[in-house]
Amino acid sequence: MARPTKTSRPKSKAAANPMWGGRFGVAPDAIMQKINASIDVDRRLYAEDIAGSTAHAKMLARAKILKAKDVAAIVRGLEEVRREIEQGEFVFKSELEDIHMNVEARLADLIGEPAKRLHVARSRNDQVALDFKMWVRGACDRAEAALREFQRALIDKAALHAGTVMPGFTHLQPAQPVTFGHHLMAYVEMAGRDRARFADARRRMNECPLGAAALAGTSFPIDRDFTARELGFERPTANSLDSVADRDFALEFLAAAAIAALHLSRLAEEIVFWTGPQFGFARLSDAWTTGSSIMPQKRNPDAAELVRASTGRLLGSFIGLATVMKGLPLTYSKDMQEDKARCFAAADALMLGIGAMTGMIDDISVDAARMKATASAGFTTATDLADWLVRVLGMPFREAHHATGRIVRRAEEKGCDIADLSLADMQAIEPRIDKSVFKVLGVENSVASRTSFGGTAPANVKKAVAAARRRFL
Ligand code: ARG
Repeated sequence: MARPTKTSRPKSKAAANPMWGGRFGVAPDAIMQKINASIDVDRRLYAEDIAGSTAHAKMLARAKILKAKDVAAIVRGLEEVRREIEQGEFVFKSELEDIHMNVEARLADLIGEPAKRLHVARSRNDQVALDFKMWVRGACDRAEAALREFQRALIDKAALHAGTVMPGFTHLQPAQPVTFGHHLMAYVEMAGRDRARFADARRRMNECPLGAAALAGTSFPIDRDFTARELGFERPTANSLDSVADRDFALEFLAAAAIAALHLSRLAEEIVFWTGPQFGFARLSDAWTTGSSIMPQKRNPDAAELVRASTGRLLGSFIGLATVMKGLPLTYSKDMQEDKARCFAAADALMLGIGAMTGMIDDISVDAARMKATASAGFTTATDLADWLVRVLGMPFREAHHATGRIVRRAEEKGCDIADLSLADMQAIEPRIDKSVFKVLGVENSVASRTSFGGTAPANVKKAVAAARRRFL
């Protein structure tokens, strides 16, 4: 069992923080240090921190705030820090609290005095806003690219199954026959909107907060347009207070991620029941299932279940950060240090979930005969019959609905499908029905007739597949 951390008595002034030790006489309490340190989480921002510091240093040289030779040493030193981190040689220290101070302290070890000049005209408040925003911006790009690959898998599979008939459901009751290709293409649309949400969030967040300094701006003649350009931003943020207080960009990322996760969870759930023996619609290969240690017959869709479950983590991350931000006074408060762990966890879960769903869609095979047989069970062509009565006999739809209901009851009594009733059976209910009605009954006929734009007819699905390749891939 973990013991409670012991509090420590104040030590000598020598142990005070090197960054602000001037005013501080003693080192922090051990628990103070533990609650305050974020390095275990924010070390993931090392590349952004180094890129941000490099751009800042170059700007300081251009603005003649620092000497060119000091900046050259800083830039070279930062490169060496990056190398050390990437080679696993860097020693992260929790007494240095976070990634910003770890990098800066190591830079000072490496290059000495010029390192101490770097932190002019900025603060950790705009520095962390910058680093984190660049990371989230990258996460938007990574999510978008992964969703594109997910769409590719869906579209490829849909192309194979443009004419594979399956039951379409409402209330999870068989409703009308559709095609499997059409069903998969529904997820292509969802993923398209998810991509658009990430792209939109990215566009809005692409303003550079560096130069807001602690909160009020700086008295140094900095060039914020230069740093913004250097780091790939559209422009600098317009208000210094907002620059260090804003975490909308993270919330938007988390909201987009949560919605994308909801979509993945719906497909995951469908895969779970499609692959179950009761449905028997589809099969995942050994690569995407697990066995049971006790029941030899089992093929469990664990990956789909875990994607379904990860929605909890994603939604939780959004709610968690929104709760941290609610009611926070301007500008920066340390509460905001809680932003990163949530975004990292959400991004990791999302990327894994998209990857798993992409893999499962590429892998999945369907039992077309079983899908088709199930598609006609439950009188799923009743609407086709009602539509025929309207179209051919000119009946008002409400009357057609009523007559069809009576025909369905007759089929139910006889224990057969509507298409298996005799003409006489149908004429007993509606004498004007003739044998041409059989052309619309049957699931193949039913799906083929759904030719309205966005409908499930196989010809439409083929067109939708071609259009989706142009729109999305
Ligand atoms: N580790 C901090 C964070 O993640 C960096 C900013 C600290 N700023 C400050 N004024 N203490 O939020």
